[in-house]
Amino acid sequence: MTTKLQVSGLSKYFLTRDGEPRKVLDSISLNIETNQFVCIVGASGCGKTTFIRAIGGLIPVEEGEVRIDGQRVEGPGGDRGFVFQHDSLLPWRTVLDNVVFGLEVRGVKPAVSHPLAESLLQLVGLNGFDKHYPSELSGGMRQRVNLARALAIDPDVLLMDEPFAALDAQTREIMQRELLKIWAQKRKTVLFITHQIDEAVYLGDRVLVFSSRPGKVAADIAIPFERPRPLSLKRSPQFLKIVDEIWTLIEQEVVASMQA
Ligand SMILES: Nc1ncnc2c1ncn2[C@@H]1O[C@H](COP(=O)(O)OP(=O)(O)O)[C@@H](O)[C@H]1O
Ligand SMILES: [Mg+2]
Repeated sequence: MTTKLQVSGLSKYFLTRDGEPRKVLDSISLNIETNQFVCIVGASGCGKTTFIRAIGGLIPVEEGEVRIDGQRVEGPGGDRGFVFQHDSLLPWRTVLDNVVFGLEVRGVKPAVSHPLAESLLQLVGLNGFDKHYPSELSGGMRQRVNLARALAIDPDVLLMDEPFAALDAQTREIMQRELLKIWAQKRKTVLFITHQIDEAVYLGDRVLVFSSRPGKVAADIAIPFERPRPLSLKRSPQFLKIVDEIWTLIEQEVVASMQA
């Protein structure tokens, strides 16, 4: 196993309205192995999005650093792809033109980018939809396009911030299974934030539980289930036991933060 992502002593402050610095991430250190699927859970406002944005190089950090393949992250880069909760598709572009967007800005010619986009649309189960516009698609389909677009630049690391949060329960389950299938095929290092603990346990090799303000890794839990994982795994006693353990950890964090 090789280390893909190295986070050392990472702290982040935001200024309050009174101009006082407030610590949002508190000296986070962790390593993530190449092709590992890591999920992050924690109470709302504990700094999950801030953490993933720092790894993406979208925001500066005050202390510590992030390294990918040993290289210090100084800003965004093609080695990292993003999928956010709300799709950021361009409404005036077709599905195909949305998927090729990142390639287009990198100067990749349509003769190369279009066949690649077609194959990615097939991978995410959207063949035949290349000429549709985002407004003609359901929420689940738009998130598939979003994923295809993130994959188009072939990033080593996929940063996913509650990508399925806006989907209905059934679509969400299907997307989880599909995401694992795609991950097994494409082999990426994935950082996946979710509110839903069962989603984290179903998807992840590892679940990081963030503590409430300032965010820290309160627990780092290895998920023992072999792959491929059927959706029925979610009903097994061992699965429910891990979900329950994580739930208790988060509850303790939330209670502690309310008393602070
Ligand atoms: N740009 C910003 N300026 C000031 N405070 C911010 C900013 N972004 C996030 N915060 C604060 O940082 C904390 C962590 O936010 P966030 O990372 O979005 O948490 P989470 O994703 O876990 O819900 C919250 O208290 C939020 O209000
Ligand atoms: Mg968030």
